[in-house]
Amino acid sequence: MEHTSVRELLDASFIGKSAIAKGWVRTKRGNKNVAFIALNDGSIIHNLQLVVDPSQFSEELLKSIGTGACIRAKGNIVASQGSGQGTEMQVQELLVYGEADAETYPLQKKGHTLEFLREIAHLRPRTNTFGAVLRIRHHLAFAIHKYFNDRNFFYLHSPIITGSDAEGAGEMFHVTNFDLNAIPKDAENKIDYTQDFFGKETNLTVSGQLEGELAAMALGKIYTFGPTFRAENSNTPRHLAEFWMIEPEVAFNEIEDNMDLAEDMLKYLVKYALDHCKDDVEFLNNMYDKELLGRLQHVVDVPFKRLTYTEAITILEPNSKKFEFKVEWGTDLQKEHENYLVDHFKGPVILTDYPKHIKAFYMKQNDDGKTVRAMDVLFPWIGEIIGGSQREENYDKLLQRVKEMGIHEEDLWWYLETRKFGTCPHAGFGLGFERLVLFVTGMNNIRDVIPFPRTPKNAEF
Ligand code: 4AD
Ligand code: MG
Repeated sequence: MEHTSVRELLDASFIGKSAIAKGWVRTKRGNKNVAFIALNDGSIIHNLQLVVDPSQFSEELLKSIGTGACIRAKGNIVASQGSGQGTEMQVQELLVYGEADAETYPLQKKGHTLEFLREIAHLRPRTNTFGAVLRIRHHLAFAIHKYFNDRNFFYLHSPIITGSDAEGAGEMFHVTNFDLNAIPKDAENKIDYTQDFFGKETNLTVSGQLEGELAAMALGKIYTFGPTFRAENSNTPRHLAEFWMIEPEVAFNEIEDNMDLAEDMLKYLVKYALDHCKDDVEFLNNMYDKELLGRLQHVVDVPFKRLTYTEAITILEPNSKKFEFKVEWGTDLQKEHENYLVDHFKGPVILTDYPKHIKAFYMKQNDDGKTVRAMDVLFPWIGEIIGGSQREENYDKLLQRVKEMGIHEEDLWWYLETRKFGTCPHAGFGLGFERLVLFVTGMNNIRDVIPFPRTPKNAEF
């Protein structure tokens, strides 16, 4: 490669060498004796300062190098005179790949709001904030694969198009190649899916879990890491219609093992970010939220508090007046209740053994007949970051739940068969990748931690 990344050029080992840098101009300032160009190429949050002697270049060329322009610069790397940077380049050659019109380039001014930047998602990666978020996102994704690979889990590619609704919430996007203006109907005037592409009703997956379970009952320890889709109309700072989920599934694990894995994995990932994304996390800490670094370190350091849903209710109920939503045994917990618990225990909380009627059909039933071996991990700042459970491995009990919940048994014959042929105890969970990135970056809105968010009425870019 002809050029060297800014990340490398900022290292003192380049002092005294000639180098080529390529990137986008963040700012240009100076006078008729000297010009300073701050060059960023995305490899690191910091810019390389280019020091230019205006007498060496045509006025026209220098004029074309404004904020947003893409350029190539060749010169000598020297120790920087200014504070805050180790090296700078004394420029000998300049080439402009692409100008950016100063009148219309939207990132001219400093201090754009995050809301405005969402409207220009095609350009926002060029800001410090989104550069930092996207680099952190990359490192976390890599760390997830490393974590599981180092522990002998296999990466399973679960399908994106499925015929099932794993969570049973009916929040699915349909997949079809019907002409929507001429949908075939059967004798009863219902949609005739036998004529559709797959010969049956299909949708974008809401979870890779069911297929993950099939693989865990053969390979032992697997994880999925892929996009999942939910057509839930929740316009909240914590929900996306398209998000990425990590779903480990482990044969012979029970609920305690599942909690141990979740806690160990989350601590590892947060620590990995602190160790490998220091510059970017520090930038976000200083820019947006001075408590971010402390919050991250705290999660690495403290044991997660484990308690049952029933125990949580006994803590929440006496404080009913503080909440907008009613809380009593049997109700699903709202974000305000989750936050209360996290504050109460001053750190992450793992809640288990929820009432069965508020959880999915596949969860292992407890002997009390009322609760299931569900497990939610609640995080400061985020609320629910992980949802999981031990799975019902008993064929008859599972089938009974399927029937009770009105799920089409014939759609799940393959899932049910694993309980007929060599069934075993097993457990797993789903980590919402964007919720993890949200936690690590301290951003407020989930739309700001995925490159191109999909939310209700929003699929631009
Ligand atoms: O709790 P959920 O719905 O659990 C499952 O899908 C299980 N099949 C997982 C398993 O046991 N293998 O979703 C898991 C996690 C949530 O805790 C949350 O972090 C994230 O996925 N999540 C979302 N993230 C962003 N936008 C949404 N709309 C999300 N819905 C769930
Ligand atoms: Mg959940």
